[in-house]
Amino acid sequence: MQVLSGKEVSSFVKDRVKGQVLKLKEQGLQPGLAVVIIGDDPASHVYVNSKVKTCEELGIYSIKEQLPSETSQEEVLKVVRELNNNPKIHGILVQSPPPKHIDERTIIETISPEKDVDCFHPQNVGNMLIGDEDGFVPCTPAGVIEILKYYQLKTAGKHAVVLGRSNIVGKPMVALLARRGDYADCTVTICHSRTQNLEEITKQADVLIAAIGKPEFVTADMVKDGAVVVDVGINRIDAPEKKRGFRLVGDVAYEEVASKASAITPVPGGVGPMTIAMLMQNTITACCQQNNTEIPEG
Ligand code: GUN
Repeated sequence: MQVLSGKEVSSFVKDRVKGQVLKLKEQGLQPGLAVVIIGDDPASHVYVNSKVKTCEELGIYSIKEQLPSETSQEEVLKVVRELNNNPKIHGILVQSPPPKHIDERTIIETISPEKDVDCFHPQNVGNMLIGDEDGFVPCTPAGVIEILKYYQLKTAGKHAVVLGRSNIVGKPMVALLARRGDYADCTVTICHSRTQNLEEITKQADVLIAAIGKPEFVTADMVKDGAVVVDVGINRIDAPEKKRGFRLVGDVAYEEVASKASAITPVPGGVGPMTIAMLMQNTITACCQQNNTEIPEG
């Protein structure tokens, strides 16, 4: 059984991005990313801080816009429009989920598609679905594919089962796995909360991707011998013995599933760090596209 270290793959991607930043600097360009967070969800703050810190490490200019939870929709739109017009900023990300009174769809549609490094804007989602190879790719699903590539786990012709149908992970994951390519070209099944006989379907998976946000939901009896298991879940569960009061587990019961799988991503240290690495990569893409310059090799 092989442990697929997202930590290792994300370092590889970040090193490449660092090299690209240096090459762009020679052309007088510095990629810039703006991260907007509304409210005080602790997990979201951890992610956002980590995104800003990674920008610093790689030489990417960054702005963090921290807005209180009572910020109105119109104020958020104003911030987004200003960032759309800021020439130092090539990528804009509004951390999801926003507070309940904010209409996320309107926010996403207000972000200029050229700066939509999350690949959440309907125009970019459409381009991705049509198979545009030069466009943005959604960060977490792209991170999953990058892990498969790094470990040379070719998936062409294999049956991939995706658990979860979120706009951030499940749906775009299906689209990427169904594209052409050695690390795609899958027969894809998507399962969700209304799926009947779930276990029968997951047991057919050569590649099983769990993205449902339910701690340790996938157990060994749901997994085929030798499957490649990718765990996208990051769930906080109570752990009074820990100083911070919780521990992180994935959507997969790691120990028991690891004994059946041929390869598996751990939590933490699996898909999590990949999301940020791919965000940095998308920021490079955005900067190059906005400046009509080729994406440099890392
Ligand atoms: N919340 C959880 N994952 C993501 C992500 O990739 N982008 C944004 N904007 N919000 C998220």
